[in-house]
Amino acid sequence: MKKMIVLGAVIAAAGWRAYADDADKLLAAAQALFKPLPANAATAERPVTPELVALGRALFFETRVSGDGKVSCGGCHNSQFYGAEPIAQTVGFQGKVLPRNTPTVFNTALQFVQHYGGNRVDVEEQAVKALVSPFAYANKDLAAAEARLRALPGYRAMFEKAFPGQAEPVTAENWGKAIGAYERVLLTPAPFDRFLNGDTSALSAKQKHGLDKFIATGCGGCHSGVTIGGQMYQKFGVTADYWTLTGSKENDILKGRDKGRFHDTKKDEDAFIFKVQQLRNVAVTPPYFHDGSVATLPEAVKIMAKLQLGKDLNDADTSDIVAFLESLTGEVPQNFAQVPNLPVAAYKQ
Ligand code: HEC
Ligand code: HEC
Repeated sequence: MKKMIVLGAVIAAAGWRAYADDADKLLAAAQALFKPLPANAATAERPVTPELVALGRALFFETRVSGDGKVSCGGCHNSQFYGAEPIAQTVGFQGKVLPRNTPTVFNTALQFVQHYGGNRVDVEEQAVKALVSPFAYANKDLAAAEARLRALPGYRAMFEKAFPGQAEPVTAENWGKAIGAYERVLLTPAPFDRFLNGDTSALSAKQKHGLDKFIATGCGGCHSGVTIGGQMYQKFGVTADYWTLTGSKENDILKGRDKGRFHDTKKDEDAFIFKVQQLRNVAVTPPYFHDGSVATLPEAVKIMAKLQLGKDLNDADTSDIVAFLESLTGEVPQNFAQVPNLPVAAYKQ
């Protein structure tokens, strides 16, 4: 009896361990907050067909639609780096530095909006607007982008197959739909999905402790749903300005601090509001935060606990949470790992 009480006190002191030692309870708690990945991210309005995906995959790696013939989605969302980039800030058209870090394109179609400031409703709109972004494809307008696409005759048959019955299928809108369809199949099932589907042996004991700690600390209040984040906006820096801990610098392009959603809405209440970033593949897509100002995951986890929840995580708890986050790493999809050959017939500049 005495032993039981002592054990109970230990569990109460450790708090979260109570769950981690009961796999079924932990599973139920996790299932209430998170969802396993679906087979793909198609919707009724955004279908996924093999023809759309094949076209979207080619366009994703295509550089000839850009102002300098060098920019492609795949040039920043790299296949060797989990669809992201390992540097804080990347360069686009004519070496222009982008204000933000390149997030992964994997599973991103399942986030509720796109970009850190949420200024793209879905992956299709994101792909169309990239065509006229001065940092990316730098076309002067969508007609100019379409002209570049139509100057690549090898694509016409692919567009016709993907968009049957359309008089002129080679359009910027269809570029977005095809690339969007490709992104909607770039999902990366991970050990945590097996766990959520009921296989409690899919996570190690340490990962289960980490999951429990993740929930008990309050991370799951913001990072929830199918992409463990990506489902809501929140302030970055609830207890203090984010740059006091991240080392973020003032940003030349944004003319000062990155204020997230504010830059698009211009509303004061949106200052420092960011999309809660998804955490799938987070262990393999450093550096962290919107400007890549934090190099390692343990550091990012401690900063989150402090800035968002006012809690100081010790090294042991941090290490367990990081182990849990590693269970969100899936495999690079085959159709992304291998870069396709692109139609080269009659290339006109
Ligand atoms: C020059 C580098 C560059 C190119 C080219 C580029 N991206 Fe990105 N991408 C970024 C950066 C940087 C961000 C973050 C922007 C932000 O949040 O404001 C981003 C964000 C995204 C997002 C949102 C991810 C999230 O977590 O919110 C998607 C989706 C995406 N890009 C897809 C594409 C596609 C598709 C293309 C090609 C049509 C493309 N990107 C071209 C650098 C690039
Ligand atoms: C109040 C909401 C909130 C809570 C609670 C929260 N986060 Fe976050 N998290 C965010 C937001 C917003 C971002 C995006 C910040 C940015 O980059 O501008 C983010 C980003 C992150 C990132 C960086 C992702 C990347 O790819 O750059 C990690 C890692 C992370 N959170 C882990 C955690 C952990 C672990 C906890 C619990 C200790 C936690 N978060 C608690 C809102 C929250």
